[in-house]
Amino acid sequence: MKFDAPITIALSKGRIFEQSLPLLAHAGIEPADDPETSRKLILDTNHEQVKLVIIRATDVPTYVQYGAADLGIAGKDVLLEQGGEGLYEPLDLKIARCRMMTAGYPNTIETKGRLRVATKYVKSAQRFFAEKGEQVEIIKLYGSMELAPIVGLADLIVDLVESGNTLKANGLVPLEHITDISSRLVVNKASWKMKHNLVMQLINAFREAVNQPTT
Ligand code: PRP
Repeated sequence: MKFDAPITIALSKGRIFEQSLPLLAHAGIEPADDPETSRKLILDTNHEQVKLVIIRATDVPTYVQYGAADLGIAGKDVLLEQGGEGLYEPLDLKIARCRMMTAGYPNTIETKGRLRVATKYVKSAQRFFAEKGEQVEIIKLYGSMELAPIVGLADLIVDLVESGNTLKANGLVPLEHITDISSRLVVNKASWKMKHNLVMQLINAFREAVNQPTT
C-alpha cells in the first residue's frame, strides 16, 4: 500500500496489539517498536506517514471519535459500553475473541431474589437483565470481578470469559451467555470522508487478512 496522507491508528497493548500485527502486516505496516518493551506512546512504523498510538483499550473509541486517531482497534465489549457514537465500525477483525457472560456460584440464579451484579460492563449488564425483565442491582467495578461473589459483594458478575480458567481458579462457573466479543475496526467520521481512498484500502487489506484461512 502507498500512504499519501498521514494515518494514525489507535490500539491497546497486550493481546489486541499482538493479534493485530498480522493484520497490520497484511496492509504493509510494521511497527518500529514493541510496546511491551518500549515506553513510547506513539510508535513509528516502516511508513513515515503511519503512526500507532498505544492507549488504554477503553480510551480507543474516544481517540477515534475526536479525530486524535483516524482508525482504531477496539473490543466490542468496550464499544458496547461507549455506545458506538460518533464513529464507524466497518469490520469485525475476529481477534481477541471471547464471550461476555454472567458467572457466579452454581444455582445462584434460582436461589436468590433481587440479585446484586458486579461488573465493569454496566450498560451491557443493564441491557441484558432489562431484556429478561429482571430487576438487579448493578455494582460498578474496574477489574478483578471474580472476587465479588467470593467476598459477598455481589451474587453474580458480568465478565469476559475466554478459556474459563479465571472463573474456575476462583471456584465460579459461567452461567448465562450475553454476547460474543471480538475486536472491531473503528473509523473517525471525518477521516472516512477526507481520507476515503486510504481508509478503504486499509479496510480492504484488513478484510483480506481476516478472511485468510488460518493454518
Ligand atoms: C479477562 C476477564 C477475565 C479473564 C478471562 O481479563 O476479565 O478476568 O480475562 O479469561 P479466561 O476465561 O481465559 O480465564 P483480562 O486478563 O483481559 O484483564 P482485565 O481484568 O484487565 O480485564
